[in-house]
Amino acid sequence: MKTLRQYGMALGLAISLAPHPGYPFPCVRSGVEDAPRRGFHVNQERLREALEKLSEFGRPAGTGFEGGVTRVGFSEADLAAREYLMGLMRAAGLEVRVDPAGNIFGRRAGTENLPVILFGSHIDSVPRGGNFDGDVGSMAAIEVVRALNEHRVRTRHPLEVVIWTNEEGHHFGKGLFGSSAAAGLLAPEVLERRDEEGRTLAEWLRGYGQDPARFGEARIKPGSLAAYLELHIEQGAVLDEAKIQIGVVQGIVGINWWTCVATGFANHAGTTPMNRRQDALAAAARAALAVREEVRAEPGRQVGTVGYVKVEPGARNIIPGRVEFPVELRDLDAAKVERIWARIQKRFEQIAREENVRIECTPLSSDTPALTDPALRDAIREAARAAGFSTLDLPSGAGHDAQQMAKLAPIGMIFVPSRGGVSHSPREFTPWEDVANGAEVLYRTILLLDERLNR
Ligand code: GLV
Ligand code: MN
Ligand code: MN
Repeated sequence: MKTLRQYGMALGLAISLAPHPGYPFPCVRSGVEDAPRRGFHVNQERLREALEKLSEFGRPAGTGFEGGVTRVGFSEADLAAREYLMGLMRAAGLEVRVDPAGNIFGRRAGTENLPVILFGSHIDSVPRGGNFDGDVGSMAAIEVVRALNEHRVRTRHPLEVVIWTNEEGHHFGKGLFGSSAAAGLLAPEVLERRDEEGRTLAEWLRGYGQDPARFGEARIKPGSLAAYLELHIEQGAVLDEAKIQIGVVQGIVGINWWTCVATGFANHAGTTPMNRRQDALAAAARAALAVREEVRAEPGRQVGTVGYVKVEPGARNIIPGRVEFPVELRDLDAAKVERIWARIQKRFEQIAREENVRIECTPLSSDTPALTDPALRDAIREAARAAGFSTLDLPSGAGHDAQQMAKLAPIGMIFVPSRGGVSHSPREFTPWEDVANGAEVLYRTILLLDERLNR
């Protein structure tokens, strides 16, 4: 068995504290931009090919790779892509199993009786998303296994690649779905949620070959994981603008979703005087602006979004009688989110009175913020530096399955740059060299942890 020492890790470089201009979180930066690249273990071309192939599942008709992807969790495209991935995993010698939440695991045995080092990401996308969000971490996890096989490296810990189900949560309104189930955070009632076609989540899971009655068994036993690692694109512009190759994630924001409905009275748009209307859309529009104002009302990096409106009846000559809109709030500090939400609710009450409508909001999903583990951050930084990459410590404004795994194990996340900070868009792009850099750091970090963790 080769150990990491045999790979000649160059450690001990000085860390300088240099906040990135215009970025409110403190960023810890280490400079090794000019260090020569050492030999790669992962294969960049093979990784690129796998990602290009994956992009075909859910590709919009008449477009190419640049056209992005719509591979929403629990869709036919998702189902087909999962089959493709399971094939790759088996070909890499992994023992594949699917849990009752649809999460795919591929196991590579260790040489000792130790808990699992788990790593992976997701392959579902948002509607009209890009080909890097989740895909990079998923395919890189498989590439790492192929590289370990090629280099005949055995690890002490068993390794498992995981592909989480429905991370984006576009379908069924529950983001981080698979990892939440694995962390034991979901009550079985979630299985009764219906999609727009009236199909329940339980029915979809049956289509994934699962028995919804066994949903609770998706829970990963506490103590069975030594660590969880996830490689992901940054989805923001910090690394790209600072020209840093590897991000070491400090923590992941909490994400809170509500569904709100403004109910007025649908009436004739020509005959109802302006002062006698109960216009649900006018109220929803004011509510969306109130969300923005309250989120901006205190300093910090918290964000709030109203991402759609569904207007009924939805005709030019009818005053809107009902409008559904979501509210999403995110921050690393859960108390701050609570405070802002309390203010937003007060504003909604006032708007409802003034517009003579009702506004009612129902909580849909709440995922708590999570910090990454200092020892895993150190390992990622050391692995990156040994490979000759520059690093920067930064927080994640996007949600990740890692935050649910933090309930079960120490977590670490590796970021690679997103060009222009564009994500959840077909224009999402990460240069192939950067994708491979991330995979190489994942490879080296796994081996470092295998050497260091004794549980
Ligand atoms: C997941 O990508 C999220 O942050 O919404
Ligand atoms: Mn995403
Ligand atoms: Mn993602």
